[in-house]
Amino acid sequence: MKLLLAPMEGLADAPMRDLLCSVAGYDWAVAEFARVSATVLPARSFSRIVPELRNRSRTRSGVPVRAQLLGSDPFAMAANAAALAALAPAGIDLNFGCPAPTVNRHRGGAVLLEEPELLRRIAYQVRAAMPAPMPLSAKMRLGVGDPACALDAARALADGGVDMLVVHARTKCDGYRPPAHWEWIARVAEAVPVPVIANGEVWTVDDWRRCREISGVADVMLGRGAVADPFLVERIRGGGRFCAQHDWPRLSGLIASFWRDVKRRLPASHAPGRLKQWLNLLRRRYPQAQTLFVMVRGATELGAIDRALEHCRSLTEELAA
Ligand SMILES: Cc1cc2nc3c(=O)[nH]c(=O)nc-3n(C[C@H](O)[C@H](O)[C@H](O)COP(=O)(O)O)c2cc1C
Repeated sequence: MKLLLAPMEGLADAPMRDLLCSVAGYDWAVAEFARVSATVLPARSFSRIVPELRNRSRTRSGVPVRAQLLGSDPFAMAANAAALAALAPAGIDLNFGCPAPTVNRHRGGAVLLEEPELLRRIAYQVRAAMPAPMPLSAKMRLGVGDPACALDAARALADGGVDMLVVHARTKCDGYRPPAHWEWIARVAEAVPVPVIANGEVWTVDDWRRCREISGVADVMLGRGAVADPFLVERIRGGGRFCAQHDWPRLSGLIASFWRDVKRRLPASHAPGRLKQWLNLLRRRYPQAQTLFVMVRGATELGAIDRALEHCRSLTEELAA
């Protein structure tokens, strides 16, 4: 039973991956995509997106991190995979799920799901350019509009040589709207000879359980749910229950250290946005994060956010005493 951390560009960047992986025992994480066009990206571009490459492709807590490529030209993808493989990532993942119009206009991401022969050629060329023991996975949606596309797309990727498929159980047209169609993961898993990993709309232990039941798949990749509840993996593995009151003191410590890190790394104009983005997800699960979110929502100055966090910390300590 594996639990993986999903790639989430602009949300689960290396520092957030580090934080989430330090709390929870993920089997591996996938970094956000590197966009491949006609040229071969220099090593520094890969290391900017996946700084873990400088640490044997592991987070500080030792969780392996795979790198992800997004593109449509089989030979450019292969050349980039070879350059990336030289940096020894824990594996390479191919992105066939991105719904962003700018990416799709340039024939990247989910739109390729309607071109199974191209998917097969991309997987084949990339596999041929990589060392044999290095894992190659692909992450796909169910199709552009019609989930029936998923079966041909998945077969093509497996036929091309990917050794594992992550299926985000929504079409491109579904965007990120619930529900995720976990029953389609079962159909994909039946159609291909490689292991399938379920993804989409797992926010709680109960979602995880139902996702596995409906999809029939053992391994699950967590996306936004992992950011909204950093202790979700711990709860799944330990069979523990969610208790916002109980977990909040630990979470508020993580928020404080995240904020210190964000202030150090980002310009003052960008730092508040990163914290608000996280609080916005945390408030789905933690009423205390909702209170904090309301306190910082309008704040643009670092000092105002420092004070809100300090106020929140002292309230937490008072309640715990
Ligand atoms: C902000 C954001 C950025 C994402 N970036 C990527 C990405 O770089 N590569 C990728 O394959 N999927 C990306 N995804 C999709 C997620 O990996 C995942 O498939 C999706 O969020 C569904 O899982 P969830 O419902 O558990 O969040 C992104 C999702 C979000 C919300």
